[in-house]
Amino acid sequence: MPDGTRAILDTRSLQADHRRLAALLRPGLAVLDVGCGTGAITRGIAEAVGHEGHAVGVDVNQSMIEAARAAHRRVLGLSFHVVDVYRLPFRGEFDIVAAARVLQWLADPGAALREMTKALRRGGRMVILDYNHEKASWTPEPPASMRRFVAAFLRWRAAAGLDNAIADRLGELLSGVGLTAIATTDQSEVTRRSDPDFETRAGIWATIAATRGHQMVADGAISEGERRAAEVEYRAWLGQAGQSHVQYLLAVEGVRP
Ligand SMILES: C[S@@+](CC[C@H](N)C(=O)[O-])C[C@H]1O[C@@H](n2cnc3c(N)ncnc32)[C@H](O)[C@@H]1O
Repeated sequence: MPDGTRAILDTRSLQADHRRLAALLRPGLAVLDVGCGTGAITRGIAEAVGHEGHAVGVDVNQSMIEAARAAHRRVLGLSFHVVDVYRLPFRGEFDIVAAARVLQWLADPGAALREMTKALRRGGRMVILDYNHEKASWTPEPPASMRRFVAAFLRWRAAAGLDNAIADRLGELLSGVGLTAIATTDQSEVTRRSDPDFETRAGIWATIAATRGHQMVADGAISEGERRAAEVEYRAWLGQAGQSHVQYLLAVEGVRP
């Protein structure tokens, strides 16, 4: 993940950005947070489960884990490890296994969910939060350059085997790994101009153009001129015309029988 996206990860919190998980947490629980990034949400998990519980954050990206350790080293009951979700070393030890905004980046989410299920104790709960990028919306419409960039971004992701609509497939994926009592909660994020962090949150598309956009250019998905125009014109939209942005997310959960 490019460095520019870390600032966004650092602004996240359990209460604001993983609301369904926040509602499920109780003191004393053991929780695994897969794809924890820089650990801002994992820290909130550790604080919610208190000193009788513990939270473990894992991420495949070593620099993310180093940043997480540096930022949250004083929090009790919290540890971070460099681990690939496809090779989780945990067996039957967690009450809750969570992954937020991670499966969207995996070419084989079913294999990842099988590993995550093994980390759950029997009766434990999986909670997956993810996007359907095809249902993102803006008011008013963003500039044509950004609409073209978003369409190219989704094609580029799909060509890499990533599911742009994974939120709406999570129920069948969780059933497919044997979980029961599947439940879905709408967690869509609406950001409005009147929100103090509107330009940061709705600005995620400018950040994507400024970071992943360069890889898209290298891969021939768009030209550098198109990438730059999308970034510049969208930043202008954010500063003036933009009123709101909705990112469609679902939290889908299931229980290991
Ligand atoms: C969009 S970030 C989400 C971070 C955090 N969960 C949040 O909601 O703010 C996705 C994270 O998944 C991690 N990731 C991607 N592939 C992974 C894999 N195979 N195993 C573990 N983590 C992975 C990335 O390194 C990145 O930190």
